[in-house]
Amino acid sequence: MSRVTLRGIAKSFGLVQAVKEVSLDIPDHTFVTLLGPSGCGKTTTLNLIAGLEKVTRGEILLDGISITDWAPHERGMAMVFQNYALYPHMNVYENMAFSLKLKKVPKAEIDQRVRQVAKTLEIDQLLDRRVSQLSGGQQQRVALARAMVKEPKVFLFDEPLSNLDAALRTRMRIEIKKLHQQLKTTSIFVTHDQEEAMMLSDFIAVMRDGIVVQYGPAAEIYRRPQHHYVATFIGKPRMGTIDGNLRVDTSSVNFEAKGMKLSWPRGGANMPLMDVPACLGIRAEDVRLLDTNGAASSDTFTGEVGLLEPLGSDTFVEVIRDSMNLTARVEPDRQVHVGDKVAVQLPRNKLHFFESVSGRRIDI
Ligand SMILES: Nc1ncnc2c1ncn2[C@@H]1O[C@H](COP(=O)(O)OP(=O)(O)OP(=O)(O)O)[C@@H](O)[C@H]1O
Ligand SMILES: [Mg+2]
Repeated sequence: MSRVTLRGIAKSFGLVQAVKEVSLDIPDHTFVTLLGPSGCGKTTTLNLIAGLEKVTRGEILLDGISITDWAPHERGMAMVFQNYALYPHMNVYENMAFSLKLKKVPKAEIDQRVRQVAKTLEIDQLLDRRVSQLSGGQQQRVALARAMVKEPKVFLFDEPLSNLDAALRTRMRIEIKKLHQQLKTTSIFVTHDQEEAMMLSDFIAVMRDGIVVQYGPAAEIYRRPQHHYVATFIGKPRMGTIDGNLRVDTSSVNFEAKGMKLSWPRGGANMPLMDVPACLGIRAEDVRLLDTNGAASSDTFTGEVGLLEPLGSDTFVEVIRDSMNLTARVEPDRQVHVGDKVAVQLPRNKLHFFESVSGRRIDI
């Protein structure tokens, strides 16, 4: 069992509130990512969990027991840092064995554990090398190995892949995922890369300014973002949005923006009536590029093709009108040219709406 619970934790450094209020329940065996832009409090949150920083307020529980005041080494957690933080004067073997020696683990057991983990991570050929003689990717593996030999209850990762080049980064990402599937150790991973978060995580906590804006299964964060901020932070390309006004009357749902009016029948008598400034959002894969040449109807947006982004597997087509733009994903062999007048269909069941003022999702 290794379930981590954060109850209203906060951390201030003088006047800076690095973490304002974070409450999360991280179930046993899960892989959870703290995702957010630079400065939003990810590292501070992780350091609080590790015990490297003391909370200003709140409580941290491990399997229901408060560990808020425990020293880092009492918590049974292992951290992998962005800069690896290896001991440069030691070789790989010594780096891996170091924490076990401190804990007075018998020599034979240390040897067995180091060699076993080295084999799993395919660094068994490197055990005698000094870490200063290793490539970035190899150092990354050693940092991972050093955490693994501790057989921790919880892994904490602080952007461990951000110093690697794109190809290596993708490969290590897959390895970390496989490793988690194999070990099933509760893992808390920090990144600002939403793709990395989507690919690795069971649950994602999207953070902003020291708080968690949404916490849930990765697929739900993608499909039902509860906030405009989450909707546009997650997903590539960025979710297309149009500012306008949303009105639900007794018979219809209407979204109006500059020179654009969409209308659908009201979903049912339970749908709340409203008339509010709102933002419409739709993901590129949900926008349908129509063949008709710019014919407007009650659920289409018409415009001109701006940018074309052919990626090989798909092409992203930007459709612009006035200051509004949406992106549609199309098959790579579709004939589309910059400047074409086009219409795109916005299927009602694929639309997201957010209150303009609060950014909160409107469920209709
Ligand atoms: N020791 C400290 N003293 C003062 N302010 C700090 C300290 N550590 C962090 N902060 C501030 O707290 C805020 C959150 O920092 P934190 O390092 O947790 O962000 P982060 O989300 O990890 O960012 P990044 O993606 O850049 O690593 C920032 O405004 C930062 O400047
Ligand atoms: Mg950080």
